[in-house]
This record gives sequence, structure tokens and C-alpha cells, in this order.
Amino acid sequence: MNEGATTLSESEAELARCAAEVRQRAYAPYSGYAVGAALRTSSGKIYTGVNVENAAYPDCLCAERVAVVKAVSEGHQGFDMIAVSTSNGGTPCGSCRQVMAEFGLDAVVLIVDGQGALVNRTSVRALLPDSFGPQKLKG
Ligand code: THU
Repeated sequence: MNEGATTLSESEAELARCAAEVRQRAYAPYSGYAVGAALRTSSGKIYTGVNVENAAYPDCLCAERVAVVKAVSEGHQGFDMIAVSTSNGGTPCGSCRQVMAEFGLDAVVLIVDGQGALVNRTSVRALLPDSFGPQKLKG
């Protein structure tokens, strides 16, 4: 994976498109900030997610965590890449970084705009340096 590349490979572009498309289904009546996420599991399956807000504000769900939970609940505990689509290149929040780290510290993170165009390419490890992970609980 060329982290410095400024163009998307075909498989990256597919994931970016999925994130941008699913973003249209975001339920964000309170913030007005729609987020779409699409992750590719290590076995090649794509799971998507959107932010789902709630009148009880603290109960809002982020798009990235919805995608991760969908994948894990379908039996996929590892992922290689996640694309996150917003109107302005927003990056994953701290809680999403922690949840993504649990299942894919080496995963590539594509930050894309509302059309799926690349804003930035990074990784979960870079977004969450010195992270707390499952290995810390083993002895
Ligand atoms: N949001 C996400 O879906 N992912 C993030 O990583 C950051 C924030 C959502 C939560 C809320 O619905 C809206 O964006 C504004 O914070």
C-alpha cells in the first residue's frame, strides 16, 4: 500500500464510492453533518455504516462504529481498509479510532469527500499512536 499516493487504486475507489453513496442514508437531523463509512474485511467483504443520531443527543452513533459493528456481528473481526466520507474531509473521532484499533490497527483509512474523492490517506495506527489494545490485557 502506497500511503503517499494521491490517487485511488480501483479497489480503493470502490470503497470510497460506497462510503459516499451510503452517506446519503445518514440520519443526522440534529447536527446536519452526514457521515458515511465503508470498510473492507480481510476476506474482501464490504460493510457500510452511517451516523445515526437521536433526540437524546449522547445516544448518537458514528458511521465508522456502525460499519465495524455490522462487520463483527456478521463474523468478520479483521479489516484492511476503511473509507470515511463527509462534506469537508472530517477525520474519525477519538472513540471511533479506539474501536477501529481493536480490529485493524494496520488498516488504511481513506478520508474522502462527499463524491468519494481522496482528501487524505492515513492508517488507524497513525491516527491513534501508542494505543491501548487487547495485548495490554494479556499478562
Ligand atoms: N460523526 C461520525 O459519524 N463519525 C465521526 O468520527 C465523527 C462524528 C458523527 C456523529 C454525529 O452524528 C455527527 O457526526 C456530528 O458530530
